[in-house]
Amino acid sequence: MTAADLPAAAPNRLRPRRSCLAVPGSNPRFLEKAQGLPADQVFLDLEDACAPLAKEGARHTVVKALNEGDWTGRTRVVRVNDWTTHWTYRDVITVVEGAGQNLDCIMLPKVQDDRQITALDLLLTQIEKTMGFEVGRIGIEAQIENARGLVNVDAIAAASPRLETIIFGPADFMASISMKSLVVGEQPPGYPADAYHYILMRILMAARAHGLQAIDGPYLQIRNTDGFRAVAGRAAALGFDGKWVLHPGQIDIANEVYSPSQEDYDHAELILDAYAYFTSEEGGKKGSAMLGDEMIDEASRKMALVVAGKGRAAGL
Ligand code: GLV
Ligand code: MG
Repeated sequence: MTAADLPAAAPNRLRPRRSCLAVPGSNPRFLEKAQGLPADQVFLDLEDACAPLAKEGARHTVVKALNEGDWTGRTRVVRVNDWTTHWTYRDVITVVEGAGQNLDCIMLPKVQDDRQITALDLLLTQIEKTMGFEVGRIGIEAQIENARGLVNVDAIAAASPRLETIIFGPADFMASISMKSLVVGEQPPGYPADAYHYILMRILMAARAHGLQAIDGPYLQIRNTDGFRAVAGRAAALGFDGKWVLHPGQIDIANEVYSPSQEDYDHAELILDAYAYFTSEEGGKKGSAMLGDEMIDEASRKMALVVAGKGRAAGL
């Protein structure tokens, strides 16, 4: 997705996020190892991957890892605890005061309404002002993980210029709606169609309407790479920008699935070249023309731009 074709988001908010690696914030060994892995984004988790008794210590482990680690080329995110807990404000203050210059976004889980985004935005602004940081630089990623969040997703997506992504959290979501399955992201037995279609589309529409990225959440069967590929492919086919990865073995697959194929990328560049030619003076100032068996016009150019943009970002 190119910045020019999106309605609202600032261009620097559209970062590569094909693979978003989850790393428990309480585990220094994993935090060290994550630095060598080819994920587009790394998020250091203070929420569900940290046991309650480890959460306070993890804040400091995360600050140290952000400040002292080598995260070059990766989007650096910290997931804080959600606003229904008592941990959120201190998570944000400790992490942003301690490592705000080495942090790109805060991820807020279990978002239920726009006020929760506003509250985080205000807190970030106060910390940035106090610390002398650039105000507004730190972005927000919002996880939709329950029915209330999905019902309010349009207002959530519109709640702050800091927002960069809307993320589907399938595990919590399945629990929240009492879906009859224990395998995260897989279809619940007994339902003959795609049980995730509505949820994914709802999130994607809200994200796109506000120029944000849409990210799919985790697939917990980490040894089942075929299953991961299939579930990642489902969201990618709809237009999602990336997916969480919980294990190094999922990273290359996500990077591949969320990049266009070489063939599609080459074709997209061809459409762009052809369009530039036939609309020009020299090419006859035409609004549409044939490229092989296909008629192409301005809408084809837009579709090609999306694929070409993703392909260029992937280095194709
Ligand atoms: C992620 O946080 C999930 O609940 O799936
Ligand atoms: Mg969750």
